[in-house]
Amino acid sequence: MNLRKHPDFDKHEEITFFADPASGLKAIVARHRIWNSPSVGGCRMRDYAGEDEALADVLRLSRGMTYKSVMAGLDYGGAKAVILGVPPAERREALFRAMGRAVNRFRGGFRTGVDVGLTPEDVEVMKTETRFVAGIGVMAPAEATALGVQESIKASLAHRLGSGHLRGRRVAVQGLGKVGRRLAELLVADGARVVAADVDTKSAEDARRDLGIEIVAPELIHAQAAEVYSPCALGAVINDASLGEIQAVVVAGSANNQLAEARHGAALAERGILYAPDYIANAGGLIAVAADLEDKREDWIWQKLRGLGPSLTRVFERAEALGLPTAEAADRLAGELIAEAGPGQRSAA
Ligand code: NAI
Repeated sequence: MNLRKHPDFDKHEEITFFADPASGLKAIVARHRIWNSPSVGGCRMRDYAGEDEALADVLRLSRGMTYKSVMAGLDYGGAKAVILGVPPAERREALFRAMGRAVNRFRGGFRTGVDVGLTPEDVEVMKTETRFVAGIGVMAPAEATALGVQESIKASLAHRLGSGHLRGRRVAVQGLGKVGRRLAELLVADGARVVAADVDTKSAEDARRDLGIEIVAPELIHAQAAEVYSPCALGAVINDASLGEIQAVVVAGSANNQLAEARHGAALAERGILYAPDYIANAGGLIAVAADLEDKREDWIWQKLRGLGPSLTRVFERAEALGLPTAEAADRLAGELIAEAGPGQRSAA
């Protein structure tokens, strides 16, 4: 296969395929941009339909990490690791040890951490083989992500409705996992009226009991009469089926790849719905990981999180000035920042 002709290939600088027959590890690491600082991105594990699907995933995700990084004011090139196939329990430790050794092959030029399909225990196993894996640090990534989404909701409301206050605003939170549950708590503390849903009835029931929030059926959450719809579960939730039913004027959440297709960003704009591009709204997780990698203190994280609102406002203003959907304006801005960062930052290695 000619990798350069792959539809998701975006001049990725390095794509490495790993196989460790002893443990059964099959993995791909893509470094989208290699600058002076390490390339950073999580490690994901899934039962992919095949190598093609895994390759598309790693190419897209590593590119997204570069965009997320530059828009958060960080200078990491984006990267990602995907492990092909979830192993049986008895092979899990050996597989993650092998993955740790694979990470060492980059000699610190690739730093990774937990993503979908991995547990914190898997990361601990990798750490027995490599020091290039980020852990919890001074703030858990999900906590920082929730704080960043809260900041993004305020900036979006300020732009769309003239005031970023949350008191009395109705916010529909989709997913009450690590990020969504914490976000719901933060919003309630700010005086918002939260309505939420989770396919896991226990998570939903716990949140109703602990936070006093309203719970609705998962298939109704996007269609709530609310000022804000906050997707914090799955991607592709803005699609042909959901679009016409969204009543909110702001969409801002943590889920990656919320737009099923780029045209759905344009459709939101046509309907007067302000979309906070996902890789800006959910950059808190990367900021927390960066703090761990660079031994930064909590005040550094807060400063970066507070920068997400102004970053979004810049994108919204640019989108209006150019008559573009916000997602496209963000991509263009990120593209410019990457072009600026690239040549001056290039590693000699
Ligand atoms: P999680 O796995 O802890 O929570 C996801 C929740 O969504 C689960 O409770 C699940 O039951 C629920 N869910 C799944 N399908 C649903 C549906 N159709 N309707 C309603 N609820 C549904 O994941 P986490 O960490 O909270 O992340 C949420 C999203 O944010 C994911 O898309 C993730 O990729 C993204 N994200 C997370 C970051 C982090 O630091 N944890 C950082 C950046 C992005």
